Amino acid sequence: MDVVIRMARPREAAIVHRILMEAYAPYRGKVVPPLKVFDSTPTSIALDIRSRRHGHALAWLGGTPVGTVRCTPGRNGEGQRRWTLSRLAVLPEYRGEGIGAALMRWMEERARQMGVVELRGQVRTALPFLVRFYQCLGYQVLGFQSKPGYPRYLTIIGKRLR
Ligand SMILES: CC(C)(COP(=O)(O)OP(=O)(O)OC[C@H]1O[C@@H](n2cnc3c(N)ncnc32)[C@H](O)[C@@H]1OP(=O)(O)O)[C@@H](O)C(=O)NCCC(=O)NCCS
Repeated sequence: MDVVIRMARPREAAIVHRILMEAYAPYRGKVVPPLKVFDSTPTSIALDIRSRRHGHALAWLGGTPVGTVRCTPGRNGEGQRRWTLSRLAVLPEYRGEGIGAALMRWMEERARQMGVVELRGQVRTALPFLVRFYQCLGYQVLGFQSKPGYPRYLTIIGKRLR
């Protein structure tokens, strides 16, 4: 069955939220500092979509929503369009079938069509398989971010589109 990907509507915020909570559940209490995704609610996601602060794509397999990724439009230092991609999630029972990669590629294509010059992302350094996942999709490690007590806890990744 083919995966269909499209942007989520505000009324689909609860679906996005459910996928996020289920996909990130194994990190709860294990990954430090805690992931901000656990602070999100269906209401906050609906507000983000409505205000266009963030967009969330949803991947559907038949009538079943199985994955999601978030994009946050912004600008780089030269005033060019740069999108930050985050909150990639695929339900555990649908993993390993290319849905995560398809979501990333779909968002990248959308970004290209909108004249975005660069994509950015942040990955927990403690989860190195995720860094490899993004490297396979053409992202490069650009640097690290620290906060008191957590040196280099974030790996910053990026990809130039033009
Ligand atoms: C990361 C995630 C979205 C990948 O989704 P997916 O649909 O399984 O990804 P794909 O099927 O497109 O996998 C692409 C590649 O990554 C590898 N991969 C995916 N998840 C992996 C995992 N948990 N451990 C090791 N490798 C993994 C796959 O083996 C695959 O490589 P291959 O094509 O060489 O076989 C999914 O594991 C997930 O939701 N994880 C929890 C949330 C999360 O960590 N999000 C990312 C935060 S930065």
